[in-house]
Amino acid sequence: MKIKSATFQLSAADIGACPAWAWREFAFVGRSNVGKSSLINMLCGKANLAKVSALPGKTQLVNFFLMNEAWCLVDLPGYGFAQVTKDRKYDFSTLIKEYLEQRTNLAGVFVLIDSRLPPQRIDLDFLGWLEGCRVPFALVFTKADKLKPAKLQANIELFQEAAGPWLGAAPELLFSSSKTGAGRIGILKSIDRVLLLA
Ligand code: GTP
Ligand code: MG
Repeated sequence: MKIKSATFQLSAADIGACPAWAWREFAFVGRSNVGKSSLINMLCGKANLAKVSALPGKTQLVNFFLMNEAWCLVDLPGYGFAQVTKDRKYDFSTLIKEYLEQRTNLAGVFVLIDSRLPPQRIDLDFLGWLEGCRVPFALVFTKADKLKPAKLQANIELFQEAAGPWLGAAPELLFSSSKTGAGRIGILKSIDRVLLLA
């Protein structure tokens, strides 16, 4: 699939402010700083379309990007940034939850996982919660440029093993580097497969 155009449409602070269009949406979610906004820029081929920051917590709103005037990429805020509640359960923001639970034109979710880290409890908890949303999702292991291929593979397998009890059907596993562009074709193909369904 070729990306011929990518344009920022709007930011929404709550589910009521999300636009009532019919375009199918693919959302990017994951821990703060995992590389959601960078990955959207990499897929679009535009360096500064989504705002990137070295400090976690940069994206606070739901940001919509229209692709090829036909479907959307959606940049969600990160989770896991000073969000642990008293009973040590992670509190995923209302905005993330409402968007993922209620958005009827949501066609797919990419859950980003930092490929450098051992399995993180918050990601497993999030996947457990997402399983209940009945929206299709794939995992994307980000920042692949920071590891040797064998280590990347080993970390993906570790995560798969740890996530087993949290997951129903095995999700599609993808990887990415926003630095080198690695993994771009795999993610676009995954989107294309869904777009071709209807
Ligand atoms: P929030 O909006 O705060 O939740 O963060 P985010 O998930 O959107 O992350 P963002 O894209 O802003 O990137 C966070 C930091 O990681 C930035 O310093 C990026 O340059 C860096 N980064 C993102 N992706 C990659 C990657 O694939 N490789 C490398 N080496 N660095 C990356
Ligand atoms: Mg961001």
